[in-house]
Amino acid sequence: MDSQPASAPEPAPKSQPVAASLTRAAIFLVATIHPGDQSLAKVRAFCGNLSALLRSVGFRDLDAALSCIVSFGSGAWDRLFSSPRPAELHPFREIGSGTRQAPSTPGDMLFHIRSKRMDMCFEMATQIMFALEGAITVVDEVHGFRYFDDRDLLGFVDGTENPSGDDATAAVFIRDEDSAFTGGSYVIIQKYLHNLDGWNALPTETQENIIGRKKLSDIELDDSVKPSFAHNALNQIFENGQQIQILRDNMPFGRPGHGEYGTYYIAYARSPRPIEQMLDNMFIGKPPGNYDRILDFSTAVTGCLFFVPTASFLDGLAGPPDTAAADAAPATSSAAPSSTTSSPGDGSLGIGSLKGEDSHE
Ligand code: HEM
Repeated sequence: MDSQPASAPEPAPKSQPVAASLTRAAIFLVATIHPGDQSLAKVRAFCGNLSALLRSVGFRDLDAALSCIVSFGSGAWDRLFSSPRPAELHPFREIGSGTRQAPSTPGDMLFHIRSKRMDMCFEMATQIMFALEGAITVVDEVHGFRYFDDRDLLGFVDGTENPSGDDATAAVFIRDEDSAFTGGSYVIIQKYLHNLDGWNALPTETQENIIGRKKLSDIELDDSVKPSFAHNALNQIFENGQQIQILRDNMPFGRPGHGEYGTYYIAYARSPRPIEQMLDNMFIGKPPGNYDRILDFSTAVTGCLFFVPTASFLDGLAGPPDTAAADAAPATSSAAPSSTTSSPGDGSLGIGSLKGEDSHE
């Protein structure tokens, strides 16, 4: 076996589990960070402790495959980190054409929590809120579920053409193009609400033309019959003859009692550009006017772009307390919820570094 050279190259940074497979349940929390250095320090300390928190909650059922990906909006990045900026991080670009609008909505942080069990997602979300109390406000919370054989609420299988294995890794992780952020990723989210009555009134064949696949069998329509406005036609992007892939983890959500039926669209990629190009194709049309008919029955009510740093970057925030972290300690203590807080799991925070931060007062 080869012996290690004296100065071995730095190990590659460890990515967050962006390419993990679809789970039965997910919770999406979009939050804004409160003004003030104490809130920022608390968020940084939380990020440094995230892997410990995940271990604590995840260990309760290892088979449930709990994961939580944390990502940051453009403005938040500048407020939180002094390191260089990810090259393509910018606020979500609004797109609109007539009645079809993709709005840009507030969001400093995204927590994408996934597990085979909703109770594990719920516990993780509870612990996040407990740890960040006083530092963030959640501006949107969505609980997504797996619907039969990975169908969306329009009734079609969603996720079929996602890349997997090495292809997924190649699609989502930054490499040399932005070497300070190798192993990071970008994520775009949009919360869509569907007019299901209108959609369900369409003949199945019309729906299949809109999606570009057969509804029951999920077989792709042949190019000879697939309309140019089909969803999967507009969302195929090519560069130098090669298809550019993104990784989607869409989840259905809803409240039937309130007539709410939706798709939480979430897509990861090593650059936001292909996703933005797809949005242009859907909302404006390719060519303009040849838009995605899903949008006649679906309204985007949120839109955010975030950068996903590596897990190594987050772990690095747990290092020896710097001035900012030390400054934050009193706030961490004073913001600690009282014993009446509904959080059942304060025990897991007790073993992480957040508790440690308190002792640096
Ligand atoms: C209302 C929200 C949406 C719904 C219900 C939806 C549903 C679907 C369905 C059913 C498919 C076909 C199966 C599959 O390959 O996954 C699909 C494919 C796809 N969608 Fe969406 N989608 C939505 C929004 C979006 C958005 C906003 C984008 C991009 C910005 C997007 C990008 C894609 C891509 C890249 C494919 C695969 C195309 C291919 O290579 O065949 N989708 N979507």
